[in-house]
Amino acid sequence: MSMPRIGDKAPSFKAVTTQGEINFPEQFQGSWVILFSHPADFTPVCTSEFMTFASLENQFNDLNCKLVGLSVDGLYSHIAWLRTIKEKIEYKGMKNVEVKFPLIEDITMEVAKKYGMIQPGESSTKAVRAVFVIDPKGVIRTIIYYPLSLGRNFDELLRIVVALQAADNFKIATPADWRPGDDVIVPPAGSCGAAKDRMEGKEEMKCYDWFFCTKKLDKNVIIDAIKKDIKK
Ligand code: BEZ
Repeated sequence: MSMPRIGDKAPSFKAVTTQGEINFPEQFQGSWVILFSHPADFTPVCTSEFMTFASLENQFNDLNCKLVGLSVDGLYSHIAWLRTIKEKIEYKGMKNVEVKFPLIEDITMEVAKKYGMIQPGESSTKAVRAVFVIDPKGVIRTIIYYPLSLGRNFDELLRIVVALQAADNFKIATPADWRPGDDVIVPPAGSCGAAKDRMEGKEEMKCYDWFFCTKKLDKNVIIDAIKKDIKK
């Protein structure tokens, strides 16, 4: 069983989904993608997560980020579950929720095993709640694994996508609990030494010590950069 790592190319696979066949990650080149797994269809935590993912899909798409789900259930189970969600479930103000992004069937666990989503200490028959954030070049940039009992935090998933794009566009890093609009760290972690020398006079920086300097980065500037990336 392999465990992909941050910085690795996302392992390739072809799969059947609720939106037809996909060729991953090749067909998503040029977009960010969140590939995520859930333990099982027709379960409560997963239902709350799918309704939230679907409700936020436009916000992810605005960040040039596509969503792709996976569980080791079959296609007909996926279709029946998503139909039940749309027709019957009203939860936290979300109703009539249509899941438009692809949900992979992975009965053989081939994809789940490739991505380290089967973690036998937690379950040998279900995928854990994995999240892989993959960049437009197909490189894995963030990995989170949650246990079966813990639903994901969607503010955090959106924050991760914006933070990675801000880091790429502006060569900065983001401090603890950063939100778009907060000060960012210059230069990125690992190359701090010359921060002050290089930045002096160019931009307004605040230095807490020689190794820890921040600067302002307006939220709208980040959003404009993301929009430019989408147009490319
Ligand atoms: C759930 O989504 O509620 C769930 C799925 C598998 C095991 C436990 C909870």
